[in-house]
Amino acid sequence: MLPPQSRSRAALLTSLFAVGCLVFIYFTFTLVDHTRIDQLLDIPSSPYVEIIVPENHETWPYRVYKSSPVRPPNISINTYGGELAEGFLFLTPKGRGRQGVNQTAPFAFDSDGELVFAANATYGTTDFRVQTYRAQQHLTYWQGKSTGSPNPGHGYGVVTFLDSEYEEFNLSVKADINGIEDVDTEKKPGPAPGTIDIHEHDMTDRDTLLVTAYNNTPANLSSMGGPEAGWIADSLFFEIDVATQDIIYRWSPLEHIPLNSSRLPVKSYMGSGTRSAPWDFFHTNSIQAIGSEYFLISSRHTWSIWLIARHTGEVVCEFNGEDGGTFGAVPEGGHFRWQHHARAHNVTDTGFYLSLFDNHAMIQDPDSKRSSGLMFYFALPPQRHQPPKLVKHLKVKGSHVKAPSQGSYQADVGRAKTQVLGYGQMPLTREFGPEGELRMEAQYGYHDYVQSFRAFKQVWHATPKAWGPSLVLEEAGGKGDEERRIRAYVSWNGATDVESWHVFVVQKESGHAANGVRTPKEQASAVEEDGHERFVGKAAKLGFETVFELRVEESECVQVAAVRDGVALKRSEVVCLP
Ligand SMILES: *[C@@H]1O[C@H](CO)[C@@H](O)[C@H](O)[C@H]1NC(C)=O
Ligand SMILES: *[C@@H]1O[C@H](CO)[C@@H](O)[C@H](O)[C@H]1NC(C)=O
Ligand SMILES: *[C@@H]1O[C@H](CO)[C@@H](O)[C@H](O)[C@H]1NC(C)=O
Ligand SMILES: *[C@@H]1O[C@H](CO)[C@@H](O)[C@H](O)[C@H]1NC(C)=O
Ligand SMILES: *[C@@H]1O[C@H](CO)[C@@H](O)[C@H](O)[C@H]1NC(C)=O
Ligand SMILES: *[C@@H]1O[C@H](CO)[C@@H](O)[C@H](O)[C@H]1NC(C)=O
Ligand SMILES: *[C@@H]1O[C@H](CO)[C@@H](O)[C@H](O)[C@H]1NC(C)=O
Repeated sequence: MLPPQSRSRAALLTSLFAVGCLVFIYFTFTLVDHTRIDQLLDIPSSPYVEIIVPENHETWPYRVYKSSPVRPPNISINTYGGELAEGFLFLTPKGRGRQGVNQTAPFAFDSDGELVFAANATYGTTDFRVQTYRAQQHLTYWQGKSTGSPNPGHGYGVVTFLDSEYEEFNLSVKADINGIEDVDTEKKPGPAPGTIDIHEHDMTDRDTLLVTAYNNTPANLSSMGGPEAGWIADSLFFEIDVATQDIIYRWSPLEHIPLNSSRLPVKSYMGSGTRSAPWDFFHTNSIQAIGSEYFLISSRHTWSIWLIARHTGEVVCEFNGEDGGTFGAVPEGGHFRWQHHARAHNVTDTGFYLSLFDNHAMIQDPDSKRSSGLMFYFALPPQRHQPPKLVKHLKVKGSHVKAPSQGSYQADVGRAKTQVLGYGQMPLTREFGPEGELRMEAQYGYHDYVQSFRAFKQVWHATPKAWGPSLVLEEAGGKGDEERRIRAYVSWNGATDVESWHVFVVQKESGHAANGVRTPKEQASAVEEDGHERFVGKAAKLGFETVFELRVEESECVQVAAVRDGVALKRSEVVCLP
């Protein structure tokens, strides 16, 4: 008995030999052309493309497949020259009220806009990306229920981790959080899966995760013109030990930031300072650990980036988008408001870089302007006579896209050191060169009907363990006497490194149900018994789903094996047409 790999190699060699003999006999009488031996083994294939264009002009065109139920948006990609970062585009497209997308899920796309992986999330998702846990790459995303009017923009959920075989675990925070019960709505009945908020889940280099969580709590708002017996939605953050799920740090804006820092009026579309619609005065939307002693926090509603000291929770310095805060001034062109996704880079004792997505827009801000990406340089320690420098301003001439919420800025991506901006509430991701020139634009929705909280371009390699390649057969043209032409569709959701499919024709055993499938295990024992399996060639893997044609006899079924580096990884089930 041979292991499956050797068996398929043995089958390959036998087939090669048989084909070789036939070709030899044939060409002895015509002309000798050895290159055709290889061609005989190559089965021409192509990516399967079927795009549904909904007539409502609200749902963005989406792709459908024969061998997979996933329905990702047909993302439209334009390139403008210049090297792009390697890797896939990670998005969480979600319709806003309207039917913006057919399916909401965390999706990864390649540089041609072809789907690579669609995750199975139970709830709405945000912040899909690759992070490191225990020195291994994992995919992570938030999933949960989001709040709507009169208190929009929060969520209650869990963070899902997938390893490079797509083994899954969830992380939740066991904290006393008030407000979670409010998301049990008629439209989506039932409790939320957890208490982690949508805005951040960032791994530290000490295998802990930083997450946000909204706690509704009473507060005297009379100094801000609100009710004396008022309520605040306090956007806490927690540091969680991923292995034990223990909370190892907690920080509350209400305990450390004066209420008058807020630029959001107590009464706005986001609340009114009451119990049912608390005032979201701070709105933490990104957190980053700076070494073991500091945290960098982006607060949308104060227009500030705050650096706090871990051991006291106190503010070390503040960079405000209007007046510069501790740094005295904002450089020309660098003013920001309602910003997202602040990240410090290359922090040393003498200075650091800071990137952020400047929304500069909010639905009730009359001074809303177009959104852009900003990169600053700060000298340390902060001194009022040494204001920060603006080193990058990412915008596109003639384009005035305003993203009133969400968004991201991923700096210095890959070899090409590109800058990736996700426009959050607007269904747009742009990739810029290091000098700020536009190189790529991806669109996945009409107007503001589709949002993706953040967008990332990252390298990811994975091979699913729990599921194998999926194969579907269709009749292609009329039935011949003995031979029939069939079309095969094959995909393997999330398998990033498959190069080709080895195709086998398998004898339909007597008594085996027609139009049935055999599991790879059943197939292996069947082959051991009767040896009725024939390698017929290899088809290049193209697109998410590959399609190719085959001729088989009435009594034959088909099976494929995924191949990487010439090695067969995993087989599909055996599939038969009736
Ligand atoms: C689907 O996306 C491709 C790639 O961007 C684009 O060329 C094509 O026009 C799109 N098709 C539809 C129907 O939107
Ligand atoms: C989603 O796609 C499926 C398959 O094309 C279709 O039957 C269904 O009507 C679509 N639903 C929406 C809401 O677009
Ligand atoms: C999604 O769930 C379906 C049904 O349980 C399963 O067959 C499929 O393999 C899952 N896909 C992923 C990516 O987990
Ligand atoms: C993770 O949480 C989601 C949402 O509650 C749930 O559907 C899924 O089954 C969980 N996964 C695991 C491995 O527990
Ligand atoms: C609420 O704050 C106001 C102004 O700061 C103060 O005058 C008032 O006494 C406070 N009310 C209570 C109940 O503490
Ligand atoms: C904000 O409140 C603090 C006290 O909490 C006060 O010292 C400061 O002057 C106030 N700032 C403004 C602009 O009102
Ligand atoms: C940080 O330093 C690395 C290594 O020198 C460099 O490649 C990168 O561009 C720097 N990042 C920023 C934001 O300046």
